[in-house]
Amino acid sequence: MDIELQKKWELLDRLIVSLTNIHELSSAAYSHKLNEELYEPVLENACNLIKASRGSIMLFDEKSQTLNIIASKGISAEVIASTRLKSGEGVAGLAFQTGKIITTEDPGNENGYVGYIGAPEQREPFVAIPIRTRKKVLGVLNLHVADYRVLKDEYVLKILAVLADKTAITVENVGLNEAMRGFYLEMVETLTRVIDAKDSYTHDHGARASARARRISEEMGLEEDLVREIEYAALLHDIGKIGISELILRKPSRLTPQEYETIKKHTAIGYQILHPIQFLGRVPKMVLHHHEWFNGSGYPAGLKGEEIPIGSRVVSVIDAWDAMVSDRPYRKALSFDRAIEELEKGRGEQFDPKVVDVFVQLFRNEWSKLDGAESADNHSHTAGQP
Ligand SMILES: [Fe+2]
Repeated sequence: MDIELQKKWELLDRLIVSLTNIHELSSAAYSHKLNEELYEPVLENACNLIKASRGSIMLFDEKSQTLNIIASKGISAEVIASTRLKSGEGVAGLAFQTGKIITTEDPGNENGYVGYIGAPEQREPFVAIPIRTRKKVLGVLNLHVADYRVLKDEYVLKILAVLADKTAITVENVGLNEAMRGFYLEMVETLTRVIDAKDSYTHDHGARASARARRISEEMGLEEDLVREIEYAALLHDIGKIGISELILRKPSRLTPQEYETIKKHTAIGYQILHPIQFLGRVPKMVLHHHEWFNGSGYPAGLKGEEIPIGSRVVSVIDAWDAMVSDRPYRKALSFDRAIEELEKGRGEQFDPKVVDVFVQLFRNEWSKLDGAESADNHSHTAGQP
């Protein structure tokens, strides 16, 4: 294997490892795995702080409208299973409802003890500390102590409140998952720049392509989630080229049929790279099918018409446009008028007619008027160009 190719495969390998890690983190945010990873250490710290032998963290579940134990130490399985508190129920429910720290010396005798089965941990003094952000209370941290006097110390309670607040901020960040998306997209943009540098045809088209994908999708009346995914697909559609030899990608002359077959694999490679990323939703499929033709004669699956994901149909038009209005080693860039003619010719054959119509309309009304917007890759669009 030549050294260049080997380097690329190493990069691809590292990419997959990074993506897998991010995937695990971001998808764990929706499962109990991260809860354990995140809350168990928080609980452990809190217990150590006041030498509590037992404790639990309860989070409010919006669906069931109850507080459920999601992390525990020294609490029996029966108690965990039987504890489902509504807001205001029992000591923990009251701490949740009021947002205030509540201590109790003898919880078993507390009015309205829900799920009391007389287990030892239910008879110990404990403190319930609300886990809250500025906006709302997310749950409760409960700590059991042998000696009630510990809970009379104002300072201890303050420290525990700080710990609970820190926990809340972390919980909120995990719930939003936005930071992760931002980080991931930055990484993807960096990678697309790497690909751009390798494949001279795609140079610097990523940002403009994704902006256009958004405008077209909005104009077609698609819902925001789908619009966002199509935007990502426009940015990521050629990511699989990272797995294709540079010798083929940069070949100055026309490709042999065998080389063409190799290049075609970039759709499947892109899919393999992206499909483990849960929050990308339909993006991997859009990437897989971005070389399908509307009449069914494209690749890799030969899908036809509306069988082709809408995102792929949008990307296909934008991608063809970018290719046509850029110089190629074996031909000059087409003028904008000629490129529009080509899109029209491909209506219903290579391209979804609706997407072509929206593209051409937007190009005429908005994009062609942006001063110098395309001059970098279409220096030759004045009259007389082929
Ligand atoms: Fe492609």
